[in-house]
Amino acid sequence: MSKVTVVGAGNVGATCANVLITCGIADEVVLIDIKEGLSEGKVMDIMQTANILGVQTRAKGVTNDYTATAGSDMVVITSGIPRKPGMTREELIGVNAGIVKSVTDQVLAHSPNAVILCVSNPMDTMTYLIHKTSGLPKNKIIGMGGALDSARFQYFLSKALNANPAEIEGIVIGGHGDTTMIPLTRYAAQRGIPASTLLDAETLQKVAADTMVGGATLTGLLGTSAWYAPGAAAASVVDAVIHDTKRMISCSAMLEGEYGQSDICIGVPCILGKNGIEKIVEFDLNEEEKALFAKSAEAVRKTNAALAGAL
Ligand code: NAI
Ligand code: 2OP
Repeated sequence: MSKVTVVGAGNVGATCANVLITCGIADEVVLIDIKEGLSEGKVMDIMQTANILGVQTRAKGVTNDYTATAGSDMVVITSGIPRKPGMTREELIGVNAGIVKSVTDQVLAHSPNAVILCVSNPMDTMTYLIHKTSGLPKNKIIGMGGALDSARFQYFLSKALNANPAEIEGIVIGGHGDTTMIPLTRYAAQRGIPASTLLDAETLQKVAADTMVGGATLTGLLGTSAWYAPGAAAASVVDAVIHDTKRMISCSAMLEGEYGQSDICIGVPCILGKNGIEKIVEFDLNEEEKALFAKSAEAVRKTNAALAGAL
């Protein structure tokens, strides 16, 4: 039996809960928000698909009542404010740091053994904040960014290749920011055939550039940040952990020397299983990719420095 709590019943949290429930990923889901009635309403709406979709998951929506979350195997934190057009993820730090810290304290008081998945932005820095303040072992704290950025990379690759997205491989590492993420074009492939042999260099570079501003493009179109793919990407990480699938997914993880970095949470390929991050996989990066990773880490560190008051 698996129990998953999703904190924040806004666009991303409710979408994540919807995927967890309607795809039968978790046996029990609790959705919690500070806004009176919001979680209750979202869960009622989702559960009214039960007969239509054959839903077996049990679900509950609550307003700020953490007793209902007790005994969760995994907690997804999506509470906080999203970016508006023209805003960077980094500009959200002041408000979101306070929310993420207080939410983490409350969920761990009731579910001390949970694996935490941080979605709130700036995600790498919020994940770092949880590492520094929660006392949890490092494998139990995961940041969700690379799962989404990789899905966007695969989407743009499939468009350029006119191919089935399910047959595309593509991974994004580095920080979850418009200028810090690194779509690894050298490792992109269609059924094992390198994308670099199927697309000209200019097209491949455009795919990478579109991926990097993928979130900003959607924010411009929607007036707020995206939620379908972010919610589904978070649910895919939950699935890998609670079902111990050992899938390799790019996640923000605390590094201790991997990729030449320490004391930083940043996107790297991770093997996920019941213990959370079970292994960090070190891709063989060339000099250019190594330099991009170092630059990305420098930018994430700069954002982390703004946490000073919250630590
Ligand atoms: P939203 O505004 O739709 O939902 C946020 C929810 O959090 C609201 O319902 C709000 O009432 C709730 N909330 C605020 N303080 C709370 C607290 N202390 N306890 C419980 N709930 C609280 O925002 P959206 O679009 O769902 O985005 C959520 C966060 O996820 C944002 O920070 C956004 O930037 C981030 N995000 C991260 C992505 C990633 O890949 N890491 C992708 C997309 C969004
Ligand atoms: C996204 O990538 C803003 O992190 C959010 O859509």
